[in-house]
Amino acid sequence: MFNALILNQEEKRTLASVEQIDEAQLPEGDVLIDVDYSSLNYKDGLAITGKGKIIRNFPMVPGIDLAGTVVSSQDERYQAGDKVVLTGWGVGENHWGGMAQRARLKADWLVPLPAGLDSKKAMMVGTAGFTGMLCVQALLDAGVKPEDGEVLVTGASGGVGSVAVTLLAQLGYKVAAVTGRAEQNGPLLEKLGASRIIDRAEFEQPARPLEKQIWAGAVDTVGSKVLAKVLSQMDYNSAVAACGLAGGFDLPTTVMPFILRNVRLQGVDSVSCPTEKRIAAWQKLVELLPDSYFEQACTEIELAEAPKYAEDITNGQVTGRVVIKL
Ligand SMILES: NC(=O)c1ccc[n+]([C@@H]2O[C@H](COP(=O)([O-])OP(=O)(O)OC[C@H]3O[C@@H](n4cnc5c(N)ncnc54)[C@H](OP(=O)(O)O)[C@@H]3O)[C@@H](O)[C@H]2O)c1
Repeated sequence: MFNALILNQEEKRTLASVEQIDEAQLPEGDVLIDVDYSSLNYKDGLAITGKGKIIRNFPMVPGIDLAGTVVSSQDERYQAGDKVVLTGWGVGENHWGGMAQRARLKADWLVPLPAGLDSKKAMMVGTAGFTGMLCVQALLDAGVKPEDGEVLVTGASGGVGSVAVTLLAQLGYKVAAVTGRAEQNGPLLEKLGASRIIDRAEFEQPARPLEKQIWAGAVDTVGSKVLAKVLSQMDYNSAVAACGLAGGFDLPTTVMPFILRNVRLQGVDSVSCPTEKRIAAWQKLVELLPDSYFEQACTEIELAEAPKYAEDITNGQVTGRVVIKL
């Protein structure tokens, strides 16, 4: 028997409680894993509180990512004792996820833990950090160079944003960080490498179709009117990597930045990202993330505390990363 956070639904409300479950209850898969750590992402917050329609089949174990140790494997790529990391693939959404002491998963979903990371560090990065890396890679692939000018990151003190700020600064970009909590998080963002902090309120004003050109590149985790404002301020031939909807899933913009300034809007998805790209992204995270990233505010919590933190993350009240020790 082992502990798991179980989500159930009663009268359209999602209820979360820590329960003892049996290995036989785990879903099908070819690799059994002792979970060391999971992490709390915005999507986990939506799933656990029921504020977002993330989960359709109950009971469900949430946790869209995990790092752990292989107990047994029916797939020859993995042996008992191997350290692995998992993000996405619908785990914690439609397949029991990381917020349990054990998980049974498909070998195809796993990535060997790269040298230089342990399970806790891997979850300090987690889905959010992995997605931050994919966003930065999207700007690199679009040809955005440090000498082209300033790069903007929105939702900068969140999980994706803080990693994007760190990685861009490490790569030599001048980074401007947009945050709704400048007073509280400004110093941390500067420590991670932001050269200036901008109040989110400036980005919540309605955008004109085209405004003064300021940004050579941007990583947006917020969507809605903030992304619309970002698009209107992009330089000629610049690129925006958009991965999030923390401010809403709408996009009140016009085609003007695209057709008059050659602006490119690149969507970023981490859930179904192909394995080769995953391995390369994890490798690059190990190379680029400085020790100081792992010394930043990281809150380690117990499974039973996950529902409280889930509420906090959906209210924009979490700074940096929250890891769950299993
Ligand atoms: N596409 C993918 O594969 C993928 C993967 C991971 C995450 N995501 C998405 O990316 C977004 C960020 O994820 P995360 O894990 O980094 O979440 P997070 O840690 O909660 O960060 C989101 C940040 O956005 C800002 N924010 C919160 N509420 C806001 C609002 N109402 N209006 C404007 N800004 C707001 C806050 O930053 P400040 O306080 O600094 O303003 C917050 O810290 C989420 O929408 C998530 O679903 C997508």
